[in-house]
Amino acid sequence: MHPKVFRDELVRAAEWVADYLEQLPEGPVTRPVPDAHRRLLATGSLPEHGQGLGGLLDFVEKSIAPYPTGNGHPAFFAWINSPPSQPGVIAELLACAINATCGMGEHALMDLERGVVRDLAELAGLPEAAGGVLTSGGSMANLLCLATARHWFLQRQGATDGPAYDQAHARLVAYHSDQAHMSVAKAAAVIGLPSWRLRAVPTTDDRCMDVAALRAAVERDREAGLLPFCVVSNLGTTASGAIDTPAPITDLCRQYGMWHHADGAWGGLGAVLPELAAAYRGIADLDSLTVDPHKALSVPVGCGAALVADPESLRAAFAFRASYLDGDQEWPWLSDYTVELTRPGTRALTLWATLRHLGRSGVTALLSHYQDLARYLRDRIQEHPGLDLCDSGPLPVVCFRLHTTPEDGTSSAFHAAVASRLQQRGHAYLATVEHRGETILRACVCNHLTTTADLDTLLHEVVTSAQHLVGTRDR
Ligand SMILES: Cc1ncc(COP(=O)(O)O)c(C=O)c1O
Repeated sequence: MHPKVFRDELVRAAEWVADYLEQLPEGPVTRPVPDAHRRLLATGSLPEHGQGLGGLLDFVEKSIAPYPTGNGHPAFFAWINSPPSQPGVIAELLACAINATCGMGEHALMDLERGVVRDLAELAGLPEAAGGVLTSGGSMANLLCLATARHWFLQRQGATDGPAYDQAHARLVAYHSDQAHMSVAKAAAVIGLPSWRLRAVPTTDDRCMDVAALRAAVERDREAGLLPFCVVSNLGTTASGAIDTPAPITDLCRQYGMWHHADGAWGGLGAVLPELAAAYRGIADLDSLTVDPHKALSVPVGCGAALVADPESLRAAFAFRASYLDGDQEWPWLSDYTVELTRPGTRALTLWATLRHLGRSGVTALLSHYQDLARYLRDRIQEHPGLDLCDSGPLPVVCFRLHTTPEDGTSSAFHAAVASRLQQRGHAYLATVEHRGETILRACVCNHLTTTADLDTLLHEVVTSAQHLVGTRDR
């Protein structure tokens, strides 16, 4: 490729990106992908002969960009997916050009990853010695932390290999609350823990792990000769934004020689907010913590982090040697701390660029912005005669339902139909969640572009969609 062609296309792409992000809030939140187009994309169409760069931008503009998830739009509230930060978008391109692999070698991006992991740990409220690695997201971070907890526990049992390992492994038990994200169960399955040895501890009325029930379950399992090794708590449940205060769970873990991992994929930095600090009591004593910068901080997807109080525990679980990889023992390569060897440097630079742009005060202001918007939404719902606020928070997830639903017992189906109609209309986007056995509506606030006007649009769309559905039923 002639360098001039590359340069011209790069400039065209940069202009396109700036226009795209600027105009995005004006378009529909999402558009359904037409069936024929889906089939065309999903079939694969590798040409025999290579083609010039010319059509790349046109392809993205016509075939990809019109059909996004919707999370770039300020009226998207379906899941905990934020828009990309502008510094992150630029950093992604820059890191891509450098194309370092953050698993091996001595280079600046791997050092930068060590630094941003420290920044993240410090923001979360972990002690100075804490460290970790960046991951593709929260699911991978939960997996790394569970595997580390398992290794740590078996090491203490003197059972890291041989028949001792098999015997101990067959008795391991882990605990999470009944509100845990499904990635915890997935991680448990991947490390070889069958579902019968993963306990879903009930929650109290505030949707937090019932610590007395946890204690009872641990004691029951110990009496049965099993080996409780890890508790996974939530710093921000996905369904409703509840926080399991770490301190009492850590106390219990210490008493029984267990590891305490907190899944803070999207709420892990909430302790920076004075209004939430009490709920995060004891965060500094966690053994490990998952944080997803691609959620609350708007770092481009996918950037998660597995943070651990003692980075050596992560290394003990994941350092494997190969004769052709001769790492520096003073600065161990980051592949020693994770399952990935070749790892992208985009995570480190996009996180660094986003944090540098925000500063500590900007992080606090961003999280406060989400809290303020969630409060506004709750207030509007409470004032509205047609809507009922359901239990949710203190993090910015707002669960609600229609006050009047069809009388034939199909309230769940009605809420699902309202969400679906609203999604099709394209002015706002939200999803449903199961709440005390009923499907209701749920709005997650995690977009720095969102304003109160977008929340007004959301409620208008909910009511309009419900009215339309009632109208069509009555006809
Ligand atoms: C609490 C929690 N943990 C883990 C995850 C999984 O994170 P990821 O989608 O980045 O893998 C999510 C995703 O929403 C989450 O809410």
